[in-house]
Amino acid sequence: MNALERKIMEQGVVVGKDILKVDMFLNHQIDVELIRQMGEDFYAYFRNKPINKVLTVEASGIAIACFTALKFGVPAVFAKKGYHKNVGSNVYSAEVFSFTKGISYRITVMKDYLTKDDHVLFVDDFLANGAAAEGIMQIISQAGATLEGIGIAIEKGFQPGGEKLRERGIDLYSLAIVDQMEEGKITLREHEQ
Ligand code: G4P
Repeated sequence: MNALERKIMEQGVVVGKDILKVDMFLNHQIDVELIRQMGEDFYAYFRNKPINKVLTVEASGIAIACFTALKFGVPAVFAKKGYHKNVGSNVYSAEVFSFTKGISYRITVMKDYLTKDDHVLFVDDFLANGAAAEGIMQIISQAGATLEGIGIAIEKGFQPGGEKLRERGIDLYSLAIVDQMEEGKITLREHEQ
């Protein structure tokens, strides 16, 4: 069990049937040492790829992106949510529908910070249905950049996002995969040997 998996088992709280509350170390209060370790783990897995930019979506992805980018020695860029008057039309953008929250929102990245020469690692805190990843891939494609891989802290293995991305041949590495959350009990996927 890695540090994130231990933390999920010790402190994660199941809300309803399919929400894992991890506010106490990831989504509100941040366990900085744990996030630093995640950055190291993503670096260890993706280090042989020519990654020159780490991309995420605000807000909870930012800390993970920063520690990962620090290890690679590259910038972290976060997609902003919603329209921003001050950026004009100089942006790439995509519509994302959040099944968890039941709302649609737009994510944008300024053209200055993503170009066809970029080799991108996308990182995020959760992977559920994969809608945020789809939106980010649209933005990467608009920029003509290359997606080198996706690093996720917590994949919810009982939702379809992870499978859809792996079927498309995307190099997806999740630090913890939650396979089940029945009656408040969390079941993590065993690591492949
Ligand atoms: P998807 O991108 O994989 O399709 O996921 P979805 O739209 O369903 O998720 C929308 C938001 O809900 C995301 O945060 C995601 O991180 C979060 N989320 C999904 N499942 C869980 C869960 O089980 N527990 C928690 N704590 N969050 C979950 P967001 O809207 O981008 O918010 P934030 O980054 O500003 O925190």
